[in-house]
Amino acid sequence: MKRIGVLTGGGDSAGMNPALRAVVRTAWNHGAEVIGIKRGWLGLAEGTYETMGPGSVSGILHRGGTILRTFRYPEFATDEGAIPVGNTLKKLNLDGMVIIGGDGSFRGGTKLTKEFGIPVVGIPATIDNDIPGTDMSIGFDTALNVAIDAVDKVKDTASSHGRIFVIEVMGRNYGLLAAQTAIATGAEEVLLPEIPHDLDQIARRITEGYKSGKSHAIIIVAEGAAKAQYVTYEIKERLRRSVRMVVLGHVQRGGSPSGYDRILASRMGHHATELLFAGQHGIMVGVVANKLKTSSLDKKKPMSAKAVLADARLMEILV
Ligand code: F6P
Repeated sequence: MKRIGVLTGGGDSAGMNPALRAVVRTAWNHGAEVIGIKRGWLGLAEGTYETMGPGSVSGILHRGGTILRTFRYPEFATDEGAIPVGNTLKKLNLDGMVIIGGDGSFRGGTKLTKEFGIPVVGIPATIDNDIPGTDMSIGFDTALNVAIDAVDKVKDTASSHGRIFVIEVMGRNYGLLAAQTAIATGAEEVLLPEIPHDLDQIARRITEGYKSGKSHAIIIVAEGAAKAQYVTYEIKERLRRSVRMVVLGHVQRGGSPSGYDRILASRMGHHATELLFAGQHGIMVGVVANKLKTSSLDKKKPMSAKAVLADARLMEILV
């Protein structure tokens, strides 16, 4: 392999930079040239890229986001949208590509191989942690810690005022980020897409909590379960108390990657590149029970409710 490409796609997540750094340095170690595609799949369509070496990835290990930038480009799934991508690929003459992103990016990666014959290895990076084949995706740990820190802070003011707070946590259709935020902050209630909820019961439990001496109530809402605004309105209607809402939103996607994410990203970036150079492709790297593993890149679907439900009993008792 003389020349490989690398791109970051979908929503950014903290740790994409250390993953990119590991890919570039590993490929450099093999004496290969690395082409960094700018702005994800859009960059591949528009032909915006740069040649990268160790110098281009120096000083990025601790930086959030992605220096390659990213872009949501669903057009690549269409025949028309794939034409400019094909034109760029002809120019670039790549021997392989490493794709850092989520399930949408992996569908793109599979298409690159099927339609343009480019060998691809994927690295899972999303704050949602909804990709099968790895215990953790890059960015989940950082996002979880950002959410925990924010909820802890809200709790201080909630206690001072005796208020109820509804806090919306990201995660698209998957509730793991919200579930773990609720467990780690000892929230009073959590609403998840995987578990049906009853707002009357929630209101009753909050009333009981106040009666038994609680000074506040924190309700964590996964964005896939309900909108914070709706829950806030409904709880206010039922309890006639002061209820405030906070939508954590994209704050959870930012910040310097945690130590865990830096190590995970470095291991995955290095392993993915080594596998590509060893002639393997059509796979995603993952870490399962602390061991590097691979799984097929094709037909990657977001995770089922299983991982969230595994903690259902824990939540019943601790949340
Ligand atoms: O997939 C990551 C994620 O942050 C989800 O949790 C969220 O639903 C979505 O991306 C938001 O997408 P965007 O940044 O395009 O608004």
